[in-house]
Parts: sequence; C-alpha cells; structure tokens
Amino acid sequence: MSIPVYDVLIVGGGGAGLRAAIAVAQADPTQRVAVVSKVYPMRSHTVSAEGGAAGVIKDNDSAEDHCNDTIGGGDWLADQDAVEAFVEEAPKELIQLEHWGCPWNREADGSVAVRPFGGMKIQRTWFASDKTGFHMLHTLFQTSQQFDPVTRYDEHFVFDLLVHDGRCQGVACIELKTGEVRIIAGRSVILCTGGGGRIFPFTTNAAIKTGDGMGLAYRAGVGLKDMEFVQYHPTGLPGTGILITEAARGEGGILLNKDGRRYLQDHDLGSPLEVSDPRHPQLKSMELGPRDRLSQAFYWEREAGNVFTSDDGDYVHLDVTHLGEKKINKRIPFVRDTALKYVGVDCVKEPIPVRPVVHYMMGGVDTDIDAATSLPGLYAAGECACVSINGANRLGSNSLTELLVFGKRAGMGAAAFAKANPEVAVDALAAQVGDKAARLKSLYSEGREGEASIASIRRTLTSAMETGAGIYRDQARLDALCETLREIKARIKDLRITDRSKTFNTQLVQALELEFMVDAAEAVAFSASARKESRGAHQRLDFKERDDGAFLKHSVAFKSDGDPRIDYKDVSITKWPPAERVYGK
Ligand code: FUM
Repeated sequence: MSIPVYDVLIVGGGGAGLRAAIAVAQADPTQRVAVVSKVYPMRSHTVSAEGGAAGVIKDNDSAEDHCNDTIGGGDWLADQDAVEAFVEEAPKELIQLEHWGCPWNREADGSVAVRPFGGMKIQRTWFASDKTGFHMLHTLFQTSQQFDPVTRYDEHFVFDLLVHDGRCQGVACIELKTGEVRIIAGRSVILCTGGGGRIFPFTTNAAIKTGDGMGLAYRAGVGLKDMEFVQYHPTGLPGTGILITEAARGEGGILLNKDGRRYLQDHDLGSPLEVSDPRHPQLKSMELGPRDRLSQAFYWEREAGNVFTSDDGDYVHLDVTHLGEKKINKRIPFVRDTALKYVGVDCVKEPIPVRPVVHYMMGGVDTDIDAATSLPGLYAAGECACVSINGANRLGSNSLTELLVFGKRAGMGAAAFAKANPEVAVDALAAQVGDKAARLKSLYSEGREGEASIASIRRTLTSAMETGAGIYRDQARLDALCETLREIKARIKDLRITDRSKTFNTQLVQALELEFMVDAAEAVAFSASARKESRGAHQRLDFKERDDGAFLKHSVAFKSDGDPRIDYKDVSITKWPPAERVYGK
C-alpha cells in the first residue's frame, strides 16, 4: 500500500481546519497540507453559526474591556495569557477575513457594524446578517482553494491517530464511498473536528458533532481539559433544538414567562428598560446577560411553574415583535425564516417559543497557547480544543473568532514542527494498516450479530447526560450517570451492526461515532463529579458556591482501563484576580 505523506495533516474541514490550512500554505508554500473531513467542508458545523464574531474595533472599546468580559464571563477559569493573545489577534483576523471577501455588515458611515451580544458589556460582535458562520466558512473555503499545496480528502472518517516513536505521524481513516481503510501520514497533525454536543439529547449541534477529535486525542493519551463545562444556549426551538441566535436579543428581543413577565429581572440579571427606551437594547444585562445565567434562570422559572408546557418540552417566549418587520427582515431574517419553518411562528406578529439547549463545550483537547498538545506533533484548535480562553462559560461570538485565531496558530505551529521533524516512519505506519482494518472489519463482519443496538445505547447515553449533567447537577445524579456510563462501556463492546455494505455504511460510522461520544461523555461526567463547587456552566445544587481555594484550576481527564483519571493544572492569572461575577448592576 502506498501511503501519502503530508507535512501537515488537518482533521476537520470547518472554520478552524480551513484557517489552519491557509496559515500553513501562506507560511511555507513548499509544504503539503491535507484536510481530511468526514463531510464535505461546506457542511461543517461552522456553517450554522449565526450571530457573529467578537473583536475590538470601535473607539469606545478596548482590549482591556474584551479581556475583562471574557475572563469574568468564564468565571475566572480562562487562561489569561491565552485570552490576551486572543483579544489582541481577534480584530486582525476579522479584517483579514474581510480582505478575503467576508461581507461584514456596515454602519451607515461605511465602518464595520457591531451588535450587542450576551455577556459582552460593550458592543463588539461583527456580523454578516444572521448567517455569520455561513459567510465565514464560504470565505475560508474559497480562500483555501487558491493554494495548490492543500489537498482535500472529503468524506473520509478518521477513526484512529497513528503514533510512532512518541510522535503523532498520521491517521487511519475510512473512505466512506468505498469503505477502504486508508493510512495518511503527516509530519504533524491538527485536530479541528468541533465539539460533541450530540452526547446530549437536545442540542443546536449538527448530527456530525460527536466528539471525534476529543476521542482520538483521549485514546492517544492526551488529556481532555475542563470537560465538565457544557454550555446551554438559552434560546433553542422546542422539539428540534435549532438555534435562535442571540442576535435576536442583541437587536432588542425580550424573554417572557407564561405570565408575560420579563423574568430575568427576578434572577439577579438587572432591571428591564422599556423597549421604547433609547438605551434598549444597549442594556448591559437582562437578555444580554451570559448564557449560563440565562439558562439557569429558565431552570428556576420552570421549578416555579412559570413556563409553558408542551409535548416538545417546556418553553418561554422570545418576543421580537416590537422591532418591527423592517428591522427583523434586515437584521435577523434567518430568525424569521427559521421560526416560520420549524414552529410555524411569524416572529413579526407573535413571540417565538424557546428553551435552553446544549450548544457548546468549553472543554476539549488540552492544548497550550500555540495549540500544541502533550503529544509531540499533535495540535488542536476550535471547539474540539481547550486552550482555554472560555473558562467555565463562553461568551457568545468569541468562538467564531477563536477558530480563526487558534486555527492560524495551530497551522503555524504544526508547519514549524513538520519542518523540524521531516522523518516519517512510513513502513511502521504501513504495518499498522492490517490491525486497523481488522478491527473495523470485526465490527461488521458476516456472522457477528451483536446484542446492543446503536440507537438504544445512544438514547440511554444522551438521556443519562441530560439527567445527570444538565443545567444543575448534584452528587447523586452524577454518580448515577457515571454508573450508566460504565454499563454502556461494557455494552458497547457488543454492538449490533446489520449493514454489511462497504459503500457509505452509515451504520458503521454511527458505531464509531458512538464510541467517541462515550469517551467525551465519560470525561464530562467524571470531571463534573470531581468538581465540588459551582462555577459558570457547572452548577451543583449540593455545592452552590465557587470555591477558588480548592478549584481555581483546570481539570484534565485521562483515559484509563476503568474510570478516567482526573488531574488538575493551574490557571494562568496575569492581571485579573478572581472577583465576584456581576451582571445588571
Ligand atoms: O446565538 C448565536 O448566534 C450563537 C453564537 C455563538 O455561539 O457564538
């Protein structure tokens, strides 16, 4: 078998992966880059990001303010050196994207427009209508196509990292069209596979977000950092979980309970301004508070019986009717389309039903500020990574910028590593093909029936995650979740795969994805069980306070034969000592 060898091999063709590919090609046009993606890149989840990307651009804003909001918003768990680098590079990346063709909205004077976003106390969210991710991904994709050294392997599912001599030197993947196992070598490898929101039953995340990169790194001995921090976005559509962007609140939308009350005023998130007040929606909190606090407020409203109930679950109302048709069509047309199509509501005339929904994982593959992991040659960027700039709660619109800043850093780091480490053990990698192919084949070979159905394990997993590691947690529920995961790990060894075909065997892909989901889920559950405090998105009913003495540190989960091992590492504090998190005052 001939094995293609690349300088930099990128797993994932979304925003971070494409930004990394461009960075390598620009840094050294002689280097060869491969982008291996389980879907066609334009179907990556970046495409569905809506509201915008944060970066300081206006005179009333500063890097200091962006750092402040991000660090406070993350409940002081973000690494402050990483946040400073991020904030400094953010506007440069956004301007670079403009030069590549991204159609940012404009103010009347022609300058870049920004909109308010949750937890950002100053307006700094750049946007392209309410389809920002779509435009960013198009821009990155078309730009990446200018570079000859970039080769794409679309619809190739990576199921293993190849490690030889203590270095990551490539991947094993299945070409989905043929079912063939391929080995692709890389002098360095970057994981850009997105998050794993699909480990929960109700999520804004695309079906492809099954924690693959997290699982790949975890199995190769790399730690998963801060996995207990899972973000609920306060406004998803009941039933489908489809996102109604925070931009709807940024433009002035308000949240009402079943009695028509703007209930956030009862949850320490400030006082409402009349919607006719010229300062609305510039208000610093209420609907523009951070996502963790808004989702927690929904939980307590539900406990108090103040929410609507339906077959698709409980919900509250997001009201944008006062914005008027013209503004809605101009600033949030996709919100109107989405609500109309999926819940039959025209938001010009009536409020949209919404509820919290899993949206983002703050945790991920443990990397340093240059996206390098502890495994030489392996890098990670985007949602699958944890640098960490998001700490215990990410602010909306920081992640689109994060994938640019750290996608580029990953590309630069991986390119330099490849240059310094030109040798690739092709023969040793080739020798691994047989084993990898045999393992796969054994999953769906003739005569092997298996007891456990993928769908039933997946249902058990996702519902246990919601019950055990939802918006609020406690020890009893976390213990039950950990026990369910132990049982799932035993059952999953005997999966039933009835589809024997080689061409686009989606059942096989789902089986492999399920294994990655279990890896991510156990890292979430055991890290959450060990963190006996409340911080950001990790809220415990049995440990209600933040405990900086014991837990101002990152958790790092390592795979072991039984339960994961949870270690801790220090948080980098540069200029912002921990303080009270205050909104709405
Ligand atoms: O609501 C939104 O548009 C989501 C943005 C984000 O997660 O950054």
